[in-house]
Amino acid sequence: MLNQCLLKDKKVSCVKMIFEMDKNDALQKIKEDMEADKDLPLVSKPEDVIPGDGNPEAEIVFIGEAGGYHESIQRKPFVGQAGKLLNKLLELINIKREDVYITNMVKTRPPENRDPLPEELLAFGKYLDREIDIIQPKVIVTLGRFSMGKFFPFDFISMAHGKAREVKWKDRWITIVCMYHPAAALRNGEIMRREREDFLKLPEILTKLREKEKTKSDIMKNEVSQMKLL
Ligand code: URA
Repeated sequence: MLNQCLLKDKKVSCVKMIFEMDKNDALQKIKEDMEADKDLPLVSKPEDVIPGDGNPEAEIVFIGEAGGYHESIQRKPFVGQAGKLLNKLLELINIKREDVYITNMVKTRPPENRDPLPEELLAFGKYLDREIDIIQPKVIVTLGRFSMGKFFPFDFISMAHGKAREVKWKDRWITIVCMYHPAAALRNGEIMRREREDFLKLPEILTKLREKEKTKSDIMKNEVSQMKLL
């Protein structure tokens, strides 16, 4: 019996490893495709691309706006002042940065950190969609109005922030939580208070989603064993 279990566990972790490798490869391919895409606005050389970063198995994906100066140097999202705040907010809820995936609507730095233009959001959108398809997160946290606009184009952040809402994404449902951009929280004490409050809701949102998934899989297992009896 023990041998059987060990063998089964080995098999499961082997399958998991192959799956994770595929996800890593698929994310690497997105980076390479963006670097080679001659139609991408604001990208004149491959090093201009700031790819998403983090755990391909993440349950939570954070989507910001676009890279800034520090992001463009390190080629990593959220490594400047806003990124330091994001790290602190993650610490507040005992989530490690290595366990989440962080990306931007526009995966490069707009000149003088100006707002992204609609055509830039559109051009990078297909790469963001591929990231979501690969990672299949339980929760997407949008940071700021541009990433909120991807899912709720008519919402106002002051009304929408902190609410968990399910959105149909291709053939599945994803929970979207809109939050203020950390840079806005750095500029305004009231927004900082709301941002902390919204982050503190995340663990419970995740727990509920995990429970829901477990119930679903238990029901399925039960149905399969009932069918076997027939
Ligand atoms: N702001 C963003 O929206 N993204 C970053 O990567 C950094 C700052």
